[in-house]
Amino acid sequence: MAFPENFAWGAATASYQIEGGAYENGKGRSVWDAFCRWPGKVYAGDTGDVACDHYHRYREDVQLMAEIGLQAYRFSISWPRVIPEGVGLVNEAGLDFYDRLVDALLENHITPWVTLFHWDYPESLYHQGGWMNRDSVCWFADYAAVVVERLSDRVTHWITQNEPQVFIGLGHALGIHAPGLRLPDADVLLITHHVLMAHGMAVTAIRDNAKSEPLVGAAPVGIIKMPVDESDENVEAARLATFSMEDKLWNNVWYADPMILGHYPEEGVKMFGADMPELHDGDMEIIHQPLDFYATNIYHGDTVRAGQDGGWEPVAPQTGPPLTMMNWRVEPEALYWGPRFLYERYQLPIVVTENGLANTDWIHLDGKVHDPQRIDFTTRYLRAYKRAIDEGVEAMGYFHWSLMDNFEWAEGYSRRFGLTYVDYQTQERVLKDSAYWYSEVIESNGASLDA
Ligand code: FCB
Repeated sequence: MAFPENFAWGAATASYQIEGGAYENGKGRSVWDAFCRWPGKVYAGDTGDVACDHYHRYREDVQLMAEIGLQAYRFSISWPRVIPEGVGLVNEAGLDFYDRLVDALLENHITPWVTLFHWDYPESLYHQGGWMNRDSVCWFADYAAVVVERLSDRVTHWITQNEPQVFIGLGHALGIHAPGLRLPDADVLLITHHVLMAHGMAVTAIRDNAKSEPLVGAAPVGIIKMPVDESDENVEAARLATFSMEDKLWNNVWYADPMILGHYPEEGVKMFGADMPELHDGDMEIIHQPLDFYATNIYHGDTVRAGQDGGWEPVAPQTGPPLTMMNWRVEPEALYWGPRFLYERYQLPIVVTENGLANTDWIHLDGKVHDPQRIDFTTRYLRAYKRAIDEGVEAMGYFHWSLMDNFEWAEGYSRRFGLTYVDYQTQERVLKDSAYWYSEVIESNGASLDA
């Protein structure tokens, strides 16, 4: 079962989770640098100060990618490494780092997919109100222009922001991620509005400044509902649920509808009522920019069935479900229904920009890292993705999360998502069994998944 020609097989990371070098060569601080120092917020007091030391070891890491045979690599740029105060002075040393990384990737025939924002927001802008400040829209667009000016002669694939639901929800509503705020709905909605406008302005900044034809998208987290069976009414219930506003934070439509359809969903506008932000003339036009693909991060889904009056209702998970180390249920079908529903609604080619699992990995007595769960998990998910593609979903690629074990936010280093094992004491990298397995998948363009 070969995947489409030109399908990009990759792996993903994010700057704060792997780079380290947190205080080097002129880098400014991000809200994550500060958050990790807040006692009790991160597992075992872990920080990203050193992380995988990728800032110094990127060449070795690109060699790992080459060994696996990756065709594409998704990474993010640390905004405060490039612009230490978030606005104004540009840190050339920071840009140089990404410049060298991009060159190393291209030398190894690996296509860079650059995410402009994967949560390490400049601390000094946070002190000026952060995303609550309407100026944040221009701050982000100016930063985007600086990066694009420097890298776009070689970089063509751009993602504006990673998972707005998560950095807004966990970071600004629930206090679990940086900057650790627990704001009321009206503030969260204002922040969301600015984040969406920043996305739109960044898309424009990319297109205006790019030196080679850019492909641009955003990467919301996929909130996927799956039908209990494939009867028409249950499929329709799952479709309705996937695009509902049932949860004010964990939904697709509050983010993707404005970006792609040009308006906030009516259901949410009604629900939020007086908490709705004031929309200025032209705001929605700024948010609503043409995109080239729909990037989505999908790890799991929830099962639903048709409810009363044409609605839907949740179906309780089975007792004792298969779980990953994040306690997330293993739900391969999410990679069928997610791409299918998202493609139907938004009519953009799909890219799965993250999928994977935290597993109980360690170096075994034979010196290898055996991770059969990761192989089984990914086989199941990729088969489901392939089914969606066979049924007509246009798909551009798949990025496994993650290239290597890394700093898993509030969980610190206690969760291992990598195809590569990282010994944080020595910084030694060991390719896990899954990395060798993934090589074959890539080599055969997916045909080995049938075996
Ligand atoms: C996603 C994040 C990514 C990683 C995975 C496990 O929500 O985008 O950085 O932490 O989850």
